[in-house]
Amino acid sequence: MTISFEGRVAIVTGAGGGLGRAYALELAKRGAKVVVNDLGGARDGSGHSDAALKVVEEIEAMGGEAMSNGGSVSEYEQMVEMVARAKERWGGVHVLINNAGILRDKSFTKMEPADFEMVVRVHLIGSAFATKACWDLMREQNYGRILMTASSTGLFGNFGQANYGAAKLGLAGLTKTLYLEGAKNNIKVNTLAPVAATRMTEDIFPEEAFKLFGPENVVPAALYLVSEDSPTNAIVGAGAGGYHSAWVTMNKGVLLPPAERTVEGFAANWDKISDRAGDFVPQSGAEQSAVIIAQLQAAMKG
Ligand SMILES: NC(=O)c1ccc[n+]([C@@H]2O[C@H](COP(=O)([O-])OP(=O)(O)OC[C@H]3O[C@@H](n4cnc5c(N)ncnc54)[C@H](O)[C@@H]3O)[C@@H](O)[C@H]2O)c1
Repeated sequence: MTISFEGRVAIVTGAGGGLGRAYALELAKRGAKVVVNDLGGARDGSGHSDAALKVVEEIEAMGGEAMSNGGSVSEYEQMVEMVARAKERWGGVHVLINNAGILRDKSFTKMEPADFEMVVRVHLIGSAFATKACWDLMREQNYGRILMTASSTGLFGNFGQANYGAAKLGLAGLTKTLYLEGAKNNIKVNTLAPVAATRMTEDIFPEEAFKLFGPENVVPAALYLVSEDSPTNAIVGAGAGGYHSAWVTMNKGVLLPPAERTVEGFAANWDKISDRAGDFVPQSGAEQSAVIIAQLQAAMKG
């Protein structure tokens, strides 16, 4: 079955190159009208260029429809204006891929507070702003597909990327609340952790690996996660043809009797508290309290 985006309007932020460009081209090939957003800066976020315009020209050259937008995701008013233009020209916005990003890597010891703030501002605040700018429209339409771009750094950590990792796990957290709030209006929200050879990784990957990790390998995962029949609240990893899922899990832990609720009691029970046997994937934060209440009820009965 072909997965079509005919009749859909999609915004891809940071689509002037790398992964975003690959998403924009494939969305357009499959019939979407695409807003190609990119302020066209350098890898660290400085400067501007017409990168978005070039991708629009590529889409038009293959017979697709696109418009460029040079707004910065970290400026809310610019995101509101971008969404207003898309609505004015094409009548709605159905898909948002939050992809824009920058890097300012340094060990935490050497990292300037301003570099921490800037990276969080582009990835986390920027994705929240672009999403907020689309949100009411998606609710009115009773249709929205939103993808947050996280990273293995956010999910699992990486030396030298404290700012980036904090922002990226924040995006997985944003997904987890928005999927709940969007559900009744058919808004689905997912998180992607890509691995791809782009300018962001050109000095990280060895040359041979760089060839294997073309951005086109991430496109199937990204587009499925914003398609009509997408799951919601998934965390998916993709790169070089490898596709997998990740979860935030919790175990059942223990309910300690009042006498053992001491630092020493906690320490004595650490093996049980940290044992992964029987862990599960809570579907909302309320499940943490639900587990405790169930344990309290069982203890009262027993
Ligand atoms: N390449 C990887 O292996 C990898 C791994 C994990 C996560 N990611 C994430 O994937 C996304 C795409 O990265 P990429 O590898 O294609 O790198 P890239 O540098 O080619 O793409 C990022 C794009 O975002 C744009 N951008 C930066 N700040 C912006 C802003 N304020 N407003 C609008 N656009 C802005 C840049 O101009 C650039 O074109 C990023 O969020 C990145 O963190 C990439």
